[in-house]
Amino acid sequence: MAFFDLHTHILCGVDDGARTDQEMQEMLRIAYEDGTRAICLTPHYSPYLFGDTSAASERAFERLRAYAAETFPDLELYLGHELGYHESCVQALNDGRCRTLGGSRYLLVDFPAPVGFFELRSAVERLLRMGYRPVLAHAERYRSLAHRLGWIRDFIDQGGLIQINASSAIGDLGGFTRRRWKNLIRHRLVHMISSDGHNTDTRAPKMSVCLPVLEKYCTPEEIGMLMWGNAKTVIENGRI
Ligand SMILES: [Fe+2]
Repeated sequence: MAFFDLHTHILCGVDDGARTDQEMQEMLRIAYEDGTRAICLTPHYSPYLFGDTSAASERAFERLRAYAAETFPDLELYLGHELGYHESCVQALNDGRCRTLGGSRYLLVDFPAPVGFFELRSAVERLLRMGYRPVLAHAERYRSLAHRLGWIRDFIDQGGLIQINASSAIGDLGGFTRRRWKNLIRHRLVHMISSDGHNTDTRAPKMSVCLPVLEKYCTPEEIGMLMWGNAKTVIENGRI
């Protein structure tokens, strides 16, 4: 099975992901050997933490693309951002400094793990009103959503999407996060699973780690949509 990894921090020197070109290339190799054949590079767009990553990430993307064309010619690469939501992000979105996923109307957005429910809700509803389709990054991490499955369903009905991290299935972020991960899967509230890979060891860009868990709850067709199909539709700006 081929994987489409829609959420990664492989581009070097722009955020808390890869630090050198060598590490960036090694992460690509790890992903490829794991079975990934399409990747969206999504450096943080959190100016208060990492500055404006727009230009630097574009340069790193061009270097990575040149390397991949030589080494892994059948690997597709796309460029986006992971927006760390903040009140003033509208300007960065309007002038294109913060990118959507592959230039589509789908926007990867994250919040600090302890974010309150009402704060998160008003932020994603604001993005929906602006015409974006927000993809909520690593939704299993938010404690405030643990008992809000009804709202998550409403959010999806309004055009929102849910992404969860592959490694949370095996407890990388603890038992509570793993339970929330399974709960979202069991209730069919997830659109795509991604690695959110940051480095070559503790947070490697591996997708396959979640398969043994996923196979307990999902049909092969559903797994295909979670690991490839929906991400492909997003990057093509199609309808989900
Ligand atoms: Fe991320």
